[in-house]
Amino acid sequence: MKAIIGVIGAGTMGAGIAQVAAQAGHKVVLTDTNPDQLLRAEEQIKSSIEKLVHKGKLTAQLGQDAINNLRFSTQLSEHSEAGLVIEAIIENLTVKHQVFEQLEQVVSQDCILASNTSSLSIASIGACLQNATRFMGIHFFNPATLMPLVEVIPGVATSIEHTQHIEALISGWNKTVVVCKDTPGFIVNRVARPFYGEALRIYEEGLADFATIDWAMTHIGGFKMGPFTLMDYIGNDINYTVTETVFAAFYYDPRFKPSFTQKRHMEAGFLGRKSGRGFYDYKEGSMLATPHENQALGQQIFERILVLLINEAADAVFMQVASPRAVDLAMTKGVNYPKGLLAWADELGASWVLERLELLFAEYGEDRYRPNPLLRRIAREQSKFIL
Ligand SMILES: NC(=O)c1ccc[n+]([C@@H]2O[C@H](COP(=O)([O-])OP(=O)(O)OC[C@H]3O[C@@H](n4cnc5c(N)ncnc54)[C@H](O)[C@@H]3O)[C@@H](O)[C@H]2O)c1
Repeated sequence: MKAIIGVIGAGTMGAGIAQVAAQAGHKVVLTDTNPDQLLRAEEQIKSSIEKLVHKGKLTAQLGQDAINNLRFSTQLSEHSEAGLVIEAIIENLTVKHQVFEQLEQVVSQDCILASNTSSLSIASIGACLQNATRFMGIHFFNPATLMPLVEVIPGVATSIEHTQHIEALISGWNKTVVVCKDTPGFIVNRVARPFYGEALRIYEEGLADFATIDWAMTHIGGFKMGPFTLMDYIGNDINYTVTETVFAAFYYDPRFKPSFTQKRHMEAGFLGRKSGRGFYDYKEGSMLATPHENQALGQQIFERILVLLINEAADAVFMQVASPRAVDLAMTKGVNYPKGLLAWADELGASWVLERLELLFAEYGEDRYRPNPLLRRIAREQSKFIL
């Protein structure tokens, strides 16, 4: 029999995670302290399942089974039968501790506990538990029903058996699972930083405007969305906060330095699509920004951002955050990059990437451009990241 899955927090992420588990055939209990939020989540999940049935992506029977699998409650004690409980409440360590302390009194000894946190460390959340060997991060991406990637993050106290069990379980939910170390930003929110940061820097230096940088990354680089379009889509408040959190968590490493341009946009209320204006204007009748389609400039922009992304991916491998394959899977499945960054480096040649980084480092003398030692080694040995 499949384990009962508990989800705490019926907001954006919790509702999506509950739906994914219910569609995978588990009985699911979704709890939230706010009854209105539970009603909203129930309606949202039902309508999402109905759409899937309508589009032929789910049979009517499976859709009904998934709905029947779900139970909604305001009581944490409803998780007493669960084999796994995933917490997806507000990103606040004190509140998460309160919930986990209570939860540990309710669940069985062998129930696995997890947090969907994006920015807190797994070690810090698990510290409140009497048995932290059964606690880990299970990081879904938004929207959880559509995004295939799940990062599984064991903390320093987590047992290997529990991690392997969860890796196998979530893989059975039609998800791509990557296991990574408990370090700031895990894989995706760390490795993706230069996509935004270097684009902003190129703009700040006056090399190109938003539309031209976006054009370079989509038309020359093959990315689905340019960095400014994507930041507007995510929201400048959210994206800036992630950058600031990662920057602070890495002891202010200049590689992750946030940008004044993005901060000013956020401060002005130019949050992106949701506020009607971000880097671009989304109001009715506003003019579309047109790029300067200069091939040489576009190539220069794309290569500069790409080599910084590859350098960050190499650093994640060098620092044992995850394997090269896991890093590539994370970036293709978590943020839809057209290719895995390390496979891309192998294709271009590590020496080609290193040469460009060294030119940037020589020009600027800034640490954000320092080439990673693993990249240097692979270039020297004429080897590859993915063997
Ligand atoms: N939104 C994203 O894109 C995203 C992506 C990945 C991970 N996350 C992480 O997932 C978690 C949830 O984020 P979200 O965007 O779904 O938040 P949200 O604000 O949409 O939902 C949070 C829910 O938690 C409930 N809640 C608050 N305190 C509670 C408590 N003590 N007990 C039970 N329920 C409580 C709230 O009523 C709310 O319904 C956070 O840790 C966040 O960092 C968010």
